[in-house]
Amino acid sequence: MSHKPDVTLVGAGMIVHDQILPSLYQLHRLGRIGQITVCDARRRAIDALAAAEDIVRAFPGQSFQIPAEAGGPDGFQPDLYRQVIGKMPPRQIVVVAVPDQLHYEIIMTALRHDQNVCTVKPLVLHHKQALEIEQEALSRGLIVGVEYHKRFDDRSLMARRRYREGWFGEFRLGTARLFEKWYYRHSNFQNWMTVENSDAFTYIGCHYVDIVHYITGLLPTAVSLYGIRDRYPNGKEGFLWTDARILWSNGACLNVQNGLGFPDAAPGTNTQGMMLYCSGTDIGGLIEHHDQFRGLKYSYVRQPSGDGATIYAEPSPDYFQYLDLGGPGLVPTGYGLRSVEHIIENCIRVGAEDRLEARRKLVREIDEAGIMATPANSSYNELVLEAGRESIMNGGREVRIEYGQQPRVANP
Ligand SMILES: NC(=O)c1ccc[n+]([C@@H]2O[C@H](COP(=O)([O-])OP(=O)(O)OC[C@H]3O[C@@H](n4cnc5c(N)ncnc54)[C@H](O)[C@@H]3O)[C@@H](O)[C@H]2O)c1
Repeated sequence: MSHKPDVTLVGAGMIVHDQILPSLYQLHRLGRIGQITVCDARRRAIDALAAAEDIVRAFPGQSFQIPAEAGGPDGFQPDLYRQVIGKMPPRQIVVVAVPDQLHYEIIMTALRHDQNVCTVKPLVLHHKQALEIEQEALSRGLIVGVEYHKRFDDRSLMARRRYREGWFGEFRLGTARLFEKWYYRHSNFQNWMTVENSDAFTYIGCHYVDIVHYITGLLPTAVSLYGIRDRYPNGKEGFLWTDARILWSNGACLNVQNGLGFPDAAPGTNTQGMMLYCSGTDIGGLIEHHDQFRGLKYSYVRQPSGDGATIYAEPSPDYFQYLDLGGPGLVPTGYGLRSVEHIIENCIRVGAEDRLEARRKLVREIDEAGIMATPANSSYNELVLEAGRESIMNGGREVRIEYGQQPRVANP
């Protein structure tokens, strides 16, 4: 009998609207998953998601369940997810899409109720928590997939394969950047991406650290992170501009710049890209990815609505788009969809297996394959975030990472 799990989505914010819910709806449309329930601390966020015009248009007739306990329109219930997850039968799926610092508690709640988990990145903010999650999941034969969607961009997979076949030589020096648009400062970010919780590198810089490991297999060994404090419109303070220097296990160095500062008037939803200089035997190798410009230039005849939308635009066909394939509705496409699909399919594979030992074997195989990020194969990301936070709070001093029996931040 095929396993068709129900899915509880915790969080109804931006990433859920832009990528996660439409991907889940598509999997529901294809008959891969059962009922979807959405739970958010704010009832208003759930209602706004249910009414989102673009999603309703793409998926006519589809809807998600709202927990009965979600309360009235002004309700705020940060613990609602506990009741909802507590009612799920074992080995369904919990998708976690709330602010970074809440991931740990929700993932552990899901695991303790025997749920497989898909979480948006970063898994957690502390390496110790990643280890706890890894152990809790393995002991129960459950899988936790971390949604680093750049891994499912074909260009990442192309570079990864060619690098591992030796076509580029060895990575030596590189730069990467990812700047979100200025208007992000006006969004819900100002309530949580503040100096005590996070910073621009922790929020988006981790993508390129993850991708450099994914392509090269190298491990990050030191981080220095310089951050500039700026005020959000609500007066709260955030590290809204960051510059990171990451050293790698072969001595290579990657510079990563991040910010919520790409002008709203500029085309494209953000600016991003990566340049890796490599060395072969008396010959240079190069990987250069222009991730913000994917070859499309559109100049519209009227101003599109929405924050950061421009009359001249350079849209990416690669991350997430809706296509008209004859209906009904629209069909999502892109690496944002493929990433969610890959993780959910792994949750389905693991969830379908009744025998604990067989599930554990599958989990180890998925860890080993290294395509989907898991706590076991990607917790160098937590080490980098931990080292980065230590560094940014201390003016950018270098913080080292040690591996071996007990990987850890070495000079906290
Ligand atoms: N490129 C990426 O991979 C990417 C992009 C954007 C966001 N993200 C990640 O997604 C997560 C959410 O980001 P976002 O942009 O959607 O933020 P957001 O602020 O738009 O949404 C977060 C939602 O979580 C809800 N929430 C807060 N506490 C909760 C609780 N206790 N229980 C249930 N819901 C709760 C909030 O009400 C809000 O609706 C973050 O971890 C972020 O790093 C990843």
